[in-house]
Amino acid sequence: MILKNGNTFHLQGRSTSYIILINEYGDLIHYHYGKKLADMDYCARIANESRSVMSYDEKGICLEISLLEYPAYGYTDLRSPAYSVKNKYGNSVSRLLYKDYCIIQNEVQQIEGMPCVFSGDKKAQTLEITLRDNIINLEVILSYTVFEEYDIILRSAKFINTADEVMTVETCYSASIDFEKGEYDLVYFPGAWIREREFIRTEIRLGEKLDISNARGGSGHAVNPFVMLCSKDATERKGEVYGFSLIYSGNHSTVVECDIYGNVRVKQGINPFEFEHELRPDETFYTPQSVLCYSDSGFGGLSREMHDVYRNNLCKSKWANMDRPILINNWEATYFDFDEEKLMEIVKKAKALGIELFVLDDGWFGKRNDDKSSLGDWFVNKQKLPSGINGLAKRVNNEGLKFGLWFEPEMVNPDSKLYRTHPAWAISVPDRRPAFGRNQYMLDLSNNDVCDYIIKSLSDILGNANISYVKWDYNRMMTDMPCKGYNHRYTLGLYKVLDALTEKFPDVLFEGCASGGGRFDAGILAYSPQIWTSDNSDAVSRLKIQYSTSMCYPLSTISAHVTASPNHQVGRITPLKTRADVAYAGIFGYELDITQMDAVETEEVKKQIEFYNEIRTLVRTGDFYRLQSPYDGNYCSWQIVAKDKSEFVLFGCRVLALPNTKDAILKLEGLDESLQYTDIDTEEQFGGAELMYRGILPKYKNYDFSTFVRRFKSK
Ligand code: DGJ
Repeated sequence: MILKNGNTFHLQGRSTSYIILINEYGDLIHYHYGKKLADMDYCARIANESRSVMSYDEKGICLEISLLEYPAYGYTDLRSPAYSVKNKYGNSVSRLLYKDYCIIQNEVQQIEGMPCVFSGDKKAQTLEITLRDNIINLEVILSYTVFEEYDIILRSAKFINTADEVMTVETCYSASIDFEKGEYDLVYFPGAWIREREFIRTEIRLGEKLDISNARGGSGHAVNPFVMLCSKDATERKGEVYGFSLIYSGNHSTVVECDIYGNVRVKQGINPFEFEHELRPDETFYTPQSVLCYSDSGFGGLSREMHDVYRNNLCKSKWANMDRPILINNWEATYFDFDEEKLMEIVKKAKALGIELFVLDDGWFGKRNDDKSSLGDWFVNKQKLPSGINGLAKRVNNEGLKFGLWFEPEMVNPDSKLYRTHPAWAISVPDRRPAFGRNQYMLDLSNNDVCDYIIKSLSDILGNANISYVKWDYNRMMTDMPCKGYNHRYTLGLYKVLDALTEKFPDVLFEGCASGGGRFDAGILAYSPQIWTSDNSDAVSRLKIQYSTSMCYPLSTISAHVTASPNHQVGRITPLKTRADVAYAGIFGYELDITQMDAVETEEVKKQIEFYNEIRTLVRTGDFYRLQSPYDGNYCSWQIVAKDKSEFVLFGCRVLALPNTKDAILKLEGLDESLQYTDIDTEEQFGGAELMYRGILPKYKNYDFSTFVRRFKSK
């Protein structure tokens, strides 16, 4: 609900309040974000709280000590700004003052050309506040959406040039919010290839400015566009936590700044580094959407809220609400070295195991037998696949499996027909040969002709064969950007292509990928309900990767495969059971040469598939509780509980075996105290209250990487 009381806007979510005030000059002041408050006109508080010895005006008001909603730099707030627009005089001094507002019922304003949360069957209201700088004739419309059923606020900004001259948008965060002086920690998720999204928690000290930004082109391995600000006492189960997730796949930035008074500013949006956008008279510029989420039940509470929002109200694909097929991908089985008969051997074995989808990965097109050629030439290599894609898809379908195909549509190898025909389609700057990344260049998606080529060449293949699934890969970062702001234009081109293809092929399940999890962001999730989480499929590494990915993103988006042992990325030898037990907490599949498995392994895999079939709806739709963090030591455990609390799955891992040691009891969460739960395998019975308040002793085998998965149902 959005209430206006005097000069106060009060946005109420399910159990949160977000309160904005307009001061006597028209500055937009932030008053409260957190637990729900009763509604009233809070305006009288502003004058008192905005005074300092360093006042800049006769009434003693100082913007620098105030909590602001969308601050500028160069007037009386000297912290780093939410926006900066260079005017005709070449300076960027500005002060946006309140002009008017409107409330839009039952709708989330969709942002032109960019993915957004949608309202679906949820009740939402949007507040649009128009701010204006009369000196330079700039208008900015701040948009805030609240949901009756969620504790999230969607924020974005729209810049309108109402002057007669060109102005240049240099900085344009989607959201900025000033938190009252206090003691906070910041949690963020830096990483690298095969080491995605590590969980880092750090103190925020006076005068500190933490820049959680990425300028690698895609949202990147280096740091995820999701952060959390939390109270010092916040844990998985308790404490105040604020989440900030940007729905954007390009260069992003989240800045956390503790000012001279101890107030903490958090702002999130497009990275201003190497960004600018020329705004001609009457033109509008839209920022992406930032999703703010509040929970007073710790990281766990915040994650469960984000999971519900993202799985129900972000991805437009019909697959978002459907169980996904269990797949086998040939990449780690064959790499580039395959022919049709080898693939069909895998397919036949997969059928016998109960696998539902066969995915043909890299190497099926052009002359591609390694990573040095053919990206861009999306026509089949008949030497490898004499039946063609259509024929192979039919053969796979005849075996009773669906067929899926890998593409890397945004790229081109210099050794390709496409590059030889259109060298200017690769991103480059004059007089310089573009830098390589995995022997390839990036295509210029700011060019409509390039976007049309990608749409057409993929449509030709998807329209002419029974293809049920697409793996959309992206294996290098951006260099040689032709101008400032290029990355944003590229990102808009990418969304245009994804929009066109997902709309044209609504039945196809799209999976995102970027050298593993190098573009695991909410923008990509709007098109593909699942993303390949990491090229590191070692079960022990995956404990951490999946654990921290789940902080923002639901299990229904986390693609997880059982691969070979020794593992191809880290060389670790782990039991087949461990590999499957970890991968169950996601979108499950296999990626190893199943034709080489012996009879014992074959039987074990059949049972794993039967088991995942039984739990996959629960994994996709249930509430996720992280019980023990792999970042804290030798254990990791989690629990997936049905929304109606009638059943749950419990997973535990003890990484290294310990001699003569008692493992800590696990106190479960999210159950119904009054229900009796039965372990489906052992038929042991436990009370809901017993499991939560007394706990359950984990049972580990006496070897390294021992895991268990137990399934419980109430009668
Ligand atoms: C990187 C991906 O993450 C892998 O899964 C695989 O598809 C390769 N690219 C293929 O080149």
